[in-house]
Amino acid sequence: MSKLPALRLVRKAPANVDLVGRFITSDEVEEQKRDLVWAELAARSFKGKVGEIAITTEGGQPVCLMGITSKCGSPDARKIGIGFARAVSKVSSVAIEVGDLDAGELAEGILLGAYVYNDQKSKPVKPTLTKVALIGSGAKAVKASVERAEILAKAVWLARDLVNEPGGSLLPTKFANIAKRLATNVTGFTVKVWGLPEIKKAKLGGLLGVNQGSDNPARLVEMNYKTKKKGAPTLALVGKGLTFDSGGLSIKPSAGMATMKADMGGGAAVIAAMSAIAAIGPDVNVKAWVPMTDNMLGGNAVRVGDVLTMRNGKTVEVLNTDAEGRLILADALSLASEAKPDAIIDLATLTGSAVVALGNDTAALMTNNAEFGQSVKDAAKASGELVWELPLERRYRRHLDSPVADLKNIGTRWGGSIQAALFLEEFVADGLIWAHLDIAGPAFADSSNDIFPTGGTGYAVRTLVKLAEDFKAIKTK
Ligand code: BES
Ligand code: ZN
Ligand code: ZN
Repeated sequence: MSKLPALRLVRKAPANVDLVGRFITSDEVEEQKRDLVWAELAARSFKGKVGEIAITTEGGQPVCLMGITSKCGSPDARKIGIGFARAVSKVSSVAIEVGDLDAGELAEGILLGAYVYNDQKSKPVKPTLTKVALIGSGAKAVKASVERAEILAKAVWLARDLVNEPGGSLLPTKFANIAKRLATNVTGFTVKVWGLPEIKKAKLGGLLGVNQGSDNPARLVEMNYKTKKKGAPTLALVGKGLTFDSGGLSIKPSAGMATMKADMGGGAAVIAAMSAIAAIGPDVNVKAWVPMTDNMLGGNAVRVGDVLTMRNGKTVEVLNTDAEGRLILADALSLASEAKPDAIIDLATLTGSAVVALGNDTAALMTNNAEFGQSVKDAAKASGELVWELPLERRYRRHLDSPVADLKNIGTRWGGSIQAALFLEEFVADGLIWAHLDIAGPAFADSSNDIFPTGGTGYAVRTLVKLAEDFKAIKTK
């Protein structure tokens, strides 16, 4: 992973920076238009609106002017930070006035915007931005929020790197080892990697079934963050760690397969979030399970019509080997249920149907508990990540009935995300609070936009951390 730019909080603009960032409203632009520099800007039709950026000089000092006038409420400090980091990526040290913005959010945005993925280039372009000074008050709370932003950004960079690594390189063994290393010398944080013997012993029939067609052995990563606080609630995270989804015998067309190295985006988000949670140290226990395999077509690949016996004893008729995510998640949800946490959330690039419904930037939320669902929405909102709820409509459960087994792994075409969630619900123990986030859209971006870079986005890392930080046990009747 590349190194994040170093942030520091200062009271006054430091001398000798390559460039200074300054906010400006459209009124100020109007007022100063007659000035020489401003005339130049006016010629470029810079108006000072949110998202507008112009690099100019003031008294010989290079300046990055950022529009901050918004018609609809306060400007989003994260997006401003992202835009700024992209605009100044060619210089090495910058200073930026925090002004009225939230310093933590601005810092988060700058660090997120500075991300580049270069690992596969023969001549990697090194990011030049190394130092960022935030000019603002040195209040303790501000310092803490900037430090939190650094932890979050580091985790998001990790998740992006993992998603961006090609499927033939990030095999389950490597993925699991990276997760394992994160716990080295971190108090209260442990990571256990299950190999094939343990996976077989635990009868993880879904994970084993999907792994059958691959030459690369499956892994299951189990993570545990324990707070020192007595009586704290426990949150469980589960993430789909499918390192490459060819579709299996129900093979995908090439175009649909092109981004399937990102099919471990849920697992990457969970692993990265756990590392950030352990670094922040909130008063909550967090446990996580990430099943890892690729979905390939080897000679022993699971056949269409095969029946798998899952961890919880239920049998599943595999009628489409491309609906593999739910098979590996099912076993992980059973394991999470056995730990009897106060709530479980799983994250998975599970269905194309979620992308059809909500587009590329928004995850689909489905839950068996409205209060927990609301806390997921609140955490996403506070993190600037987009989530929209779909109903967990049990009427559609009938589509998963199988003539030969307890259930089948595909239903009908319509409402595919809901049926996938209903499949997962079969593996959540009765009475447990659970939410499912289908991140098939936002885990990966074909091209960059105001919130995402091209490729792996690290979506949901920050939402998960916030969810854990604010987590309270919910009473059920
Ligand atoms: N990994 C895919 C889902 C996906 C699609 C993720 C697009 C990201 C972008 C998943 O394993 C899959 O193939 N799902 C099938 C399910 C179907 C066979 C019921 C799908 O959505 O087509
Ligand atoms: Zn698939
Ligand atoms: Zn998949």
